[in-house]
Amino acid sequence: MKPRDRLRIAVQKSGRLADTSQELLAKCGLKFRQSRDKLFCFGESLAIDLLLVRDDDIPGLIAQGVCDLGIVGRNVLRERQLAAQEDGDAPASRELRALGFGRCRLAIAVPQDMRYASPSDLAGLRIATSYPASLAAWLRVQGVEAGIVELSGSVEIAPRLGTADVICDLVSSGATLVANQLREVASLFDSEAVIAAAIDTPPDERGELLEMLLRRLDGVLQVRESKLVLLQAPRDALDSIARLLPTGPRPTVTPIEGSSDEVALQAVCYGAITWQHLEDMKRRGASNLLVLPVEKMLA
Ligand code: PRP
Ligand code: ZN
Repeated sequence: MKPRDRLRIAVQKSGRLADTSQELLAKCGLKFRQSRDKLFCFGESLAIDLLLVRDDDIPGLIAQGVCDLGIVGRNVLRERQLAAQEDGDAPASRELRALGFGRCRLAIAVPQDMRYASPSDLAGLRIATSYPASLAAWLRVQGVEAGIVELSGSVEIAPRLGTADVICDLVSSGATLVANQLREVASLFDSEAVIAAAIDTPPDERGELLEMLLRRLDGVLQVRESKLVLLQAPRDALDSIARLLPTGPRPTVTPIEGSSDEVALQAVCYGAITWQHLEDMKRRGASNLLVLPVEKMLA
């Protein structure tokens, strides 16, 4: 493989993760110029390029060293790692960060009218899936012997076609299952988009670029969950009100012009503020509550 000095990230070309993956990289300050074939995006702001590919190809591209990083579902990464393990190979990629989007789960679903009480009811059945290694590992743990029918797509119609009895597939909203008269009975694991990387960090400038990208990403991920809370309250109620807020840096308290005992509180919170939070704070004496999104943060 020719040595590279630019970091290369594989992202899904089209599909569930495609848009959000590119938006996330844009929030990290990455700008790209797309090539004519729309497969390669040259990084204009930093020495970081994108390769737009099928999500299932991403772990392989990382393993071969064609790409240094990838944004891919944990389900795809895990399947590849388990398959390598079955073949007696060392893992070639690892998960660096969970990204909080593309949430779904790998689940067993059975026809609506099939009796199911526990995994042992799957014994002797044929299970259609695109995730044979993940399914085999789960069946082993459950101590259940069943047939695995590997399909690359349209898994959900297998029971109706008679090519399998039940399925093991990704479930997100559950709409696909409902449309195919299937019901979810067990979940193998939860998945979401993750940053995947080769086991070893490149020992050159790419390694430094990778570290920088992760630092920016951590900032973006933290900001996404963060809120600025503004409120007014009697000074002696502040402690009990502040205790209700999710954690964050020490809040700022300022006096209010013309009021001797009311103060204003300004707090950055790392976490969601629900209506329940607001009502609880109001009950303890807070007023004029405002919750604002945070755009950028540098501690
Ligand atoms: C998955 C899965 C189901 C569907 C479930 O496929 O194979 O078909 O999503 O989603 P739902 O519960 O919201 O209906 P996906 O579109 O991600 O494509 P892929 O697995 O072929 O990459
Ligand atoms: Zn796919």
